[in-house]
Amino acid sequence: MNLAGNTVLITGGGSGIGFALAERFVKAGSTVVVCGRRADKLEEAQQKLPGLHTRVCNVAVAAERVALLAWVRSELPAVNVLVNNAGIQNRVSLATDAEAWETRQQEISINVDAPIHLSMLFINHLREQPNAAIINVTSGLAFAPAAFAPIYSATKAALHSFTLSLRHQLKDTPISVLEIIPPAVNTDLGGPGLHTFGVPVDAFTDSVMERLAGGEIEVGYGTSEKNRMASRTELDAVFEQMNNR
Ligand SMILES: NC(=O)c1ccc[n+]([C@@H]2O[C@H](COP(=O)([O-])OP(=O)(O)OC[C@H]3O[C@@H](n4cnc5c(N)ncnc54)[C@H](OP(=O)(O)O)[C@@H]3O)[C@@H](O)[C@H]2O)c1
Repeated sequence: MNLAGNTVLITGGGSGIGFALAERFVKAGSTVVVCGRRADKLEEAQQKLPGLHTRVCNVAVAAERVALLAWVRSELPAVNVLVNNAGIQNRVSLATDAEAWETRQQEISINVDAPIHLSMLFINHLREQPNAAIINVTSGLAFAPAAFAPIYSATKAALHSFTLSLRHQLKDTPISVLEIIPPAVNTDLGGPGLHTFGVPVDAFTDSVMERLAGGEIEVGYGTSEKNRMASRTELDAVFEQMNNR
């Protein structure tokens, strides 16, 4: 994809991987709008990246997703790239978890309902724009689940599957469908300090953007690059190594 000249909407772009993508799109000459639930995080992002547009939005809520499209159509109608990046990760012990289903369901609403619904909502808008694209952010855990995050891993497998079907169904439209598959990256995912073992966000994002610019449609990094290309036997070994060490 061409990284310049776009108007890019990044969900969850006020911090972490989404913000790193925003920085690179802006540097390449695109306009970027990021959304998230916390207004203070969005303000912080705007201070770090002057010119960044922001919008408070909870993508877990269907009505807010519909309102986001309406806002884009009236305030930034040139949006031609949707990046479904917002996500949360919970560690859940299935045998002992006492949380109410409404709490557990949040992970599914944010990680699955939101990107599927937003993709469907934005198709008609995007097909009118030049160089249109939908970019879904999944995970290496889509291919080999981390059992400590069972719902999260399942949501990412679902989003990977949806991305393949979306690309197939949109193949005769001008909308490209791309997938970014991060490995563990050092962000606040799951809570501050839980992903410090991950790769640096800048190295990961630089590599991803270079490969997207080079025309690749599905991009991993390090272990997630291996996972996305692995055989079932190799993925079984990854599962064992990750969950039984
Ligand atoms: N870091 C990793 O190791 C890793 C690995 C594989 C995949 N990923 C994926 O990469 C994506 C970005 O994660 P990250 O690592 O950058 O995590 P992060 O640092 O926790 O950032 C997540 C962003 O999503 C936003 N967000 C969360 N729930 C939202 C909601 N309901 N509505 C709107 N925005 C919401 C957060 O802002 P608010 O809280 O203000 O809403 C935050 O800006 C996620 O899809 C994640 O699953 C990350």
